[in-house]
Order: sequence, then C-alpha cells, then structure tokens
Amino acid sequence: MLTSELRQKYLDFFKEKGHSIIPSASLIPKEDPTVLFTTAGMQQLVPYFIGKSHPMGNRLTDVQKCIRTVDIDEVGDNRHLTFFEMLGNWSLGDYFKQEAITWSFEFLTDEKWLALDPKKLFVTVFAGDKDAPKDEESIGIWQAQFQMQGISAEIGKPGKDEPTDGKEGARIYSYGKKENWWGPIGETGPCGPNSEMFYDTGRKHDPDFGKVCHPNCDCGRFVEIWNDVFLVHEKKADGSFGPLKQKNVDTGMGLERTAAMLQGKDTVFEIETFAGIFDALATLSGIKYEPETPNAKSEVQKANKSLRIIADHLRAATFIIGDENGAVPSNVGQGYIVRRLVRRAIREGRRLGIDKAFTDKVALVVIGEFGYHYKELETNKDRVISELKKEEEKFGTTLEKGLKEFEKMMKDHVIDGKEAFILFSTYGFPLELTQELVGENGGNLDIAEFKKEFEKHQELSRTASAGMFKGGLADHSEETTRLHTATHLLHKALRQVLGDDVAQKGSNITAERLRFDFTYGEKMTPEQIKEVENLVNEAIKKDLPVRFEEMSVEQAKGVGAVGLFESKYGDKVKVYFVGEDKDAFSVEICGGPHVARTSELGSFKILKEESASAGIRRIKATLS
Ligand code: GLY
Repeated sequence: MLTSELRQKYLDFFKEKGHSIIPSASLIPKEDPTVLFTTAGMQQLVPYFIGKSHPMGNRLTDVQKCIRTVDIDEVGDNRHLTFFEMLGNWSLGDYFKQEAITWSFEFLTDEKWLALDPKKLFVTVFAGDKDAPKDEESIGIWQAQFQMQGISAEIGKPGKDEPTDGKEGARIYSYGKKENWWGPIGETGPCGPNSEMFYDTGRKHDPDFGKVCHPNCDCGRFVEIWNDVFLVHEKKADGSFGPLKQKNVDTGMGLERTAAMLQGKDTVFEIETFAGIFDALATLSGIKYEPETPNAKSEVQKANKSLRIIADHLRAATFIIGDENGAVPSNVGQGYIVRRLVRRAIREGRRLGIDKAFTDKVALVVIGEFGYHYKELETNKDRVISELKKEEEKFGTTLEKGLKEFEKMMKDHVIDGKEAFILFSTYGFPLELTQELVGENGGNLDIAEFKKEFEKHQELSRTASAGMFKGGLADHSEETTRLHTATHLLHKALRQVLGDDVAQKGSNITAERLRFDFTYGEKMTPEQIKEVENLVNEAIKKDLPVRFEEMSVEQAKGVGAVGLFESKYGDKVKVYFVGEDKDAFSVEICGGPHVARTSELGSFKILKEESASAGIRRIKATLS
C-alpha cells in the first residue's frame, strides 16, 4: 500500500465514522510562541479540548505535518524522523475509549482497511500512579477485540522494569507515565493516559537491551504505530493534575512507520516516498542506499546512516522553509533548527564524497514527491531552492577548513567551549554539530562554557570587535538582537500606557521587524500608539545599559521582573535589566541575547496595531 493510499484510507475510514476532515495546521504555530514547531495533530485543537466549540463539529480527522527535534540525534536508526506526517482522529467531548479502541482495531486489521495480522499487534496501557488509576477499562476493551479474533490477550509486565516478572509473548502491557501518558504540550494543559499500538516486525530480540522483549524494548523488534490518548486531565502550573470538563480522544498514527509495516519494510526509510531521494543521492555520490540487514558490513551501515540523515534533514528543511509560515536558515528560533538540519546534511554529504552543492537538488525531489498533497511546497518552491543554495554557499566554503581546524584542536585534548565558539563564529559550525564531532571522537563538550563564551562575544560584538562573527554566520543576528531588546522596551511602555494588565502573549522577530502579541481588550487609539512609541524612543535616547543577572524565580519576582515564570527555565532564570538597577526602565525574565546599550537601537517605529485574536492585540514595529 502506497503512503498516499494509506493517507486517503485513514481519512475515508474516519469520515465513515462521522468525522469531518480538517486541514493540516502550519508547521510553525503562529498563535503559540512557547513552541517552535507543530509536533502533533492535537496541537491546533487544544482550545477545543477545554470546551471551545469547533466549527467543524465534535469528530475531526486530519493528516498533520509535524516536526520533532528532540530526536534529531536519533535520526539514522530505523524509525526516527525529524519531519513526519501524523494521521489523527479526535473526539471533542463526544465518543470515548470504547469507540476509539474498537475503531483503531478495525482500521488496522479489517480486510477492507489495512488488513494487518492482529497476531502482530501488541498494545500498552497506563499502569496507574498517584495521579490517575490503572486503565482497566482499556485493558478490557482490547481483550475483547483480540479474543474476538481468537487471540489470547494475556497481560504481561514490562520486562525491562521488572526483570523477574517479565513475560514475553503477552499481548497487553502496562507502563507508567513515561511510556503511557501523553501531554501536555508545553508546561500546562490537556493530557491523559494513553494506549499505544505496536507492530511486531518479527526481528529477533537483541539481549543487549534486556532479558526479555516487550513492546517498549529498544531493540527494534516492536515499532509503535498508533497512540490513542484519553485527554481527561489538565496539568496545572503547580504540577498537579485536575479533571477536564469533557472527555476527549486524541490519536496519532505515524504515517511513515505504518506505511513501512504495510510494505513489509524494516525501516521508514525504505517506503516509496524516500526512494526518489535516495536515487538522487546515488546519482550525486555514486553510493546506493541498501536495504539493511542486521549483518550488513560496517561500510554499508555507515553509508546508510549518512544517506538517512541527509534524506531526513533535507526533507524536513524543505517542509520548514516551504511552509505557509516558512522559516529560513538563521541563528534564532526555527531558523536555527533549519540551519542545523541543512549544515548537518551538508557535512554528511561530504562524507559520502559529494563535493558540489546538492541540497537544492534533493529539495526538488522532495517537492516533486509531496507537492501534490502539500500545495504550499509548490507555491514556495523558489524560496526553498534559493534559501538552500544560499545556505550551502555560506557553509560549503568554511566546512572543510573548519574540519581541519577541529582535527588540530582535538589532537591532544577534548576541545573546550572557547574552541567550539571559534568553530561556530569563524567556520559556521552549529554548536550541536561540534558536539556530535566531539562525541564521535569519544569526547564530551562543555556546553556551559560555550554558552558563556557566546554571551561574552554577543556583548563584545556590539562594541569594538564586531568582526568576531565572520563568515556570514552572524547574518541577521545583529538585527534580531536589536529588535529583541526593543521588544522589552515596548512591553514596558505598553504597561505604562495601557496598565499592568498588559501581558505578553507572543513575540516573533525577523530581520526586518518585531511582532508582539499582548493581552488588552480594545483597539489602541492613535494617541496611545504615539505615546508608546515616544516612551521607547526616549529610553533609546537615554543610552541605558543592558545587563543580566541569574537568580531564582522568587528573587526575579522580588525585583519586579515580568515574563514567563515557568519551571522550564530551570531553577535559575536570567533577568535582563534595561537601565540602572534601582530605577531600571525594564526588568524582564529572558534568555537573551540583547544589545549592550539602548543607543544601539537607533529609532523605533510602530508599523501596525491590530487584533491577533479575541482579547489579544498585535503590534508590528521596526528599528531604523
Ligand atoms: N497526540 C498523540 C501523539 O502525538 O501521539
């Protein structure tokens, strides 16, 4: 079954079950500045799990473009992808476990749909803890499904966690939160126990991963294909869980993984949508991707790994740059992720002997493969190609020299943060690439030291030694840093003019402008806009110093800092002061970086004030 057929079948199935088909959301969520990318189908639906009514009804289904970057380092094995498509069906306070599980089983095993052998399916449920009970209800529903097919549905305990009770060959397993709890996205919000479906590839268990095999064993025998989440809880800011008003279902099926199982392939990289990419890479490098057997020669394994990394990273980069809210390579936010992906791909390309520009050629294949479904890729084709060409031109010239420099540095010691910074600033090596290189050489890079160095030079580059960022890597970082500081001044000025109810809801900075979303009930008057603009420009003219201090969240509150008091910042937070300590103009929690003095900002102008959504205003502004 082709990937495109699987996509269509899924939507058809849930349409038959009364679901409305909704479009994929953008990969770059505009409304939620706390996350860089859309990582799951449910992300665009969060308001509807907590009670908002959806215009398309209470039963929804879609195919969502997703980016997950936590697994970037895992790419190269047989199942991790940075970009993937997630099939999903949702109940917004409508059906619950009985229907969700029964339909999952029907779709996977029925002859009319995927016709997978039910004997190859294994499922997991939540084991229960202080926050929620064991999911006996789901166990019962699954048992009935399997038993109807004449399959015994024994319950086994995970072998890894409980070696003495581990049971191989059971059908249903229960695990704790780490494996069988989903959400929230970010720190707070809808979440709940889940039930996952695994496909048994039939591979032999590798005892290096534990005495007995079980669905969440990492040996690669079982592949997770679908996740039914029962969103009935809400995680609160203090870490506790409360009930949601309605019982929701949120499911996520990995399109590529399921297609691989259906096509009898061991890995996602062997499904038909990757074939064209590997063909192109074979033409460029002379090296063919070979379906991998466990005993493959180490050269084959190495080459395959490089080919997979390139295919995955350039597919992801194409989708991010080609997205309706597309991001281009840079040193901040989503742009930095694209840069990392593209530069890592280029480096792997060199390993395969590709010494010419190639990323745009691979992107053309990706657009050819996916453009019929994701029309934005065709629309934004020129941007994708020109951005990749530009990025490859920049990095291609410094990569070789940087690698030589790296080898020199590594000769008698593991390189330190200062040296990693040199590789970053002079040769354009993303920190993570250096980290990986050091890792390959058996070392461990001191990230904190790199960060210290980075920050020091951010300050320096504002004054005498702007040349620190050579090789074009600094690109727009100077502009975005200036706009970042301007955002703090704007935030403060808005609170002075409109009152302390103004709270930041989002911020987005490009090389040209800043965008700031904040809570406020009505349109600002032209007078208010002028006043805010004047306050910011006054602060700029005063040439106030900008500095930061690390302190606990409590201390930050004590000094009157505004900003997100979330635990994700860790115990210590950075507090930026604009102005002399006692009567600082702005005090805000923030990761930085910022300019050293406000006079570097020049002149501030508000371009637009508009509504972003109910109760939220949006300002776009620029510096000149
Ligand atoms: N929201 C379900 C999943 O991502 O697996």
